[in-house]
Formats: sequence, C-alpha cells, structure tokens
Amino acid sequence: MVFNFLAIRFKNIHLPFGIMDTICKASEDPATAYLPDSRLSLGLEDVYIKPTRLTYIDGERGELRYLGYRIEDIISSGASAEVIQYAFLYGKLPDDSELARFRALVEKGYELPDYVVSSVAALPRSSDVVGMQAVAMASLAAGSDFQWRKIHMPDTFATMLGQMAAITVIALRHAMGKEPKLPSPTASYARSFLVALQDKEPSDEKVRALDQAIILYLDHEVPASTTAGLVTVSTLADPYSAVLSALAALRGPLHGGATEGVMAQLNEVGEPQAAKEWFEKNVASGKKRLMGFGHRVYKAYDPRALIFKSIAMKLASEGQLHKMLTTALALEQVGLKSLAVKGIYPNADFYSPIVYASLGIPYAKGAYTAMFALSRTAGWLAHFEEYVQMGGRIIRPRALYIGPAPRTLAPKT
Ligand code: ACO
Repeated sequence: MVFNFLAIRFKNIHLPFGIMDTICKASEDPATAYLPDSRLSLGLEDVYIKPTRLTYIDGERGELRYLGYRIEDIISSGASAEVIQYAFLYGKLPDDSELARFRALVEKGYELPDYVVSSVAALPRSSDVVGMQAVAMASLAAGSDFQWRKIHMPDTFATMLGQMAAITVIALRHAMGKEPKLPSPTASYARSFLVALQDKEPSDEKVRALDQAIILYLDHEVPASTTAGLVTVSTLADPYSAVLSALAALRGPLHGGATEGVMAQLNEVGEPQAAKEWFEKNVASGKKRLMGFGHRVYKAYDPRALIFKSIAMKLASEGQLHKMLTTALALEQVGLKSLAVKGIYPNADFYSPIVYASLGIPYAKGAYTAMFALSRTAGWLAHFEEYVQMGGRIIRPRALYIGPAPRTLAPKT
C-alpha cells in the first residue's frame, strides 16, 4: 500500500484516477477507498495561496515579470541589485534620495552582533554553507522580539538584507578557512559583498555580474522555499524564523540545492564529447534526473536560464571554467533533444553555478545555494510582508486519512 501510494506521489494526482481506482480496489485496506479524491493536491500544483503584486510568471510562454517589468528589460536597464530589492520591499522604483536612505538601512545590517558571528565560527569548516546561514539566522531569531503590525515595515527588512549579506560573507569565509570579516559600505551591495569575501577590489565586470545574479534569483512567486516561509509567517512568527524555514526548504536538491547537483553533474560528465553518452547512461535510462532542467511552472525555456547562460558565456572564457561551460552547452543540447518534447527545459540553476564559479565564489558544500539564498531574501521578505498586510490567515491544510479503519484496543487485563 505504502509502495503504491509513493508510486503515484510523483504523478499528477488529477490524471491517473483510473490507475488509482485499480490500486485502491486491489488493496485490502478499506481506508484506501478515500484515495481517488479530488480534494487531494499533491505538491499543491496550481493551488493559489496568495494574491501578489510582486512577480508574474507565464510558464507556457517562458515569461517572468517583476512588478510588471520584464526580467530581460530589468537586466538590460543596468539596474543595481539594491534598486530591485527596494522595488520589492517598497512597491516602486526608488529615486536617488530614497535609494541613499535604503542603502544606509541595508548597511546598518552589516554590523552583525558578535554572538551571530561566533555561532558560525563554532561550526566545523566543512559544514554546509546554507546550514551556516541557517545557524546565524536562528541566532538572530532567538534574540528577536519582532511583532508584526498592520503597518508597512520595509525599513526593518532593508536591514535584514544587510544582515543576510554579512551572514553569507562570514559563512563563505568560514568554509574557505578564513577569519570572519563583515562587509563595509562601498558604492554598492554587490561590491561590498565581493570586497569582504575576497579581500580585494573586484572588477566592475564582476560587480555587474553579481548584481545581475542577485536580480535573476531575487524572487520567483511562491516556490517551495517562499511557501515554507509563508507557512511560518502565517503563525505570526518573526521574519528571521520565516527566513530560516525558507532556507531549509531551499537547500534540497529539487530546489536551490540543484546548483550543487549541476556542478557535480558537470564534473561527472567531464568534457563536452562525453555529454551524449553520459546522458544516455544516466538520464535516458531513468537512473537520474538532469539537474538544472525542469520546472513546476515553466514548460518553456526559463528566461533566467537564458540570461545566466549569456553571463556565463562572457565570464567563463578560458581555462577550466571554459571547459565547464562547453560541457554544459553540450549537455544542454543533448537534454533538449530528448526532454523539450515533455516541456522540460533548462531552469535558472543550469548555468548559475558557472557564473558563481567565475565570480570566485568557492565551490564549497552548499556555497552556490547560499548565493541563491542571498538573492532570494528580498523576495522572501516582500512576500512575507505582503501576506501579513493582506490579512493572511494561518496556513493549515488538511491531510486525507488513509490509515486503518476504526478499530478497538482492548484494555490490558
Ligand atoms: N530530468 C529528467 N526528467 C525529468 C526532469 C529532469 N530534470 N524533471 C522532470 N522530469 C520528468 C519526471 O521524471 C516526470 O516524468 P514521468 O511523468 O514520465 O514520470 C515528469 O518529468 C514530471 O516530473 P515531476 O517531478 O512530477 O515534476 P515536478 O513539477 O513535480 O518537479 C522539478 C519539478 C522538481 C523541478 C523537476 O523538474 C526536477 O526534479 N528537476 C531537477 C532538479 C532541479 O533542477 N531543480 C531546480 C528547480 S528550479 C529552482 O529551484 C530555481
């Protein structure tokens, strides 16, 4: 019975009712008679849990818009990460003085309390970097007396963006065997991050690429991580706890953890010439999924993947990185040939690891997923506040009972 249930777990529950009927009738357990039930939505596919003014996705056409603006236009406008972060938290693009005030609020967040820094330093250096971010976030949550109020509170969240940048820097530095160092204010969020991480001035090209990477991952409506955070916020728990929930959900290989899966995959394939054979042996055979391909909402090319690809092509022009890129390009072609007919295309995670590697982000456990989390924090916070402000109710779904029929337990004699 459990096996049957798991077997249909990965199917669209609305389609295989006929099959499920057969399974249920064949079962000896009368409780399974509840299984073919239209109330079930495994994976919450196409369930709308909140209205939003933030992000719009047309999965059939491969279209992504933030506050109405096409992602391609935002990237080509040259906007910095903080301009788009501001837009998410305040609902509009900033003018110069609004942006300066926002930057000061973010920079306040760079000054992490000592206990947060030492919570990360106490972990083994081999720890997962997202795990380190979560530990730091949990220590901020432990000290938080945050109360949600029915007023717009974006200033608090601006400072949290600075805290997340500082947390990510100390976590990555810890993984690299370096001493803790907090970001200092510079001309931009991306530059402050890179200077603190790498102890040197980055090129303008790298700062621009990090700006773009932050924007590309900044929000994506309500994927698993945002939903996990929303569940937490719906109980009126503080936003640090909600980011902690979101981090935990992001870490899995089916979501943000896919960045790591993509790197492992590229290393396993090794070179462009091996892509076809590797795909046949591993993916076509059904042994593995092609990491960085497929999406619950997109049934067309993920527009973020196209932009990440173009950034990777600019940055990874030589050496090992170029080899990695050409391997990814070959794997993409092979993957598309076989999977595009099913609506399975590259997603944002397929090329982003090459961009991160080109920026000098260390390839430590969870490091690239941690970079994804750094970007997504603004989207998470904007959705959390939007949910509370609209009077969002506690998220409390139901589980359809399929256990044993009522039975008695005789008292001990
Ligand atoms: N490689 C091979 N087959 C795939 C892939 C893939 N990457 N993705 C989906 N499929 C197939 C499944 O095997 C299944 O086939 P079947 O109907 O013959 O059994 C069918 O497509 C539907 O798959 P589901 O798992 O039901 O699709 P779902 O919408 O639940 O999952 C997900 C989406 C998790 C992203 C999936 O495509 C996947 O596992 N991709 C690989 C991991 C990945 O790249 N994750 C990153 C997501 S994007 C992001 O977080 C930014």
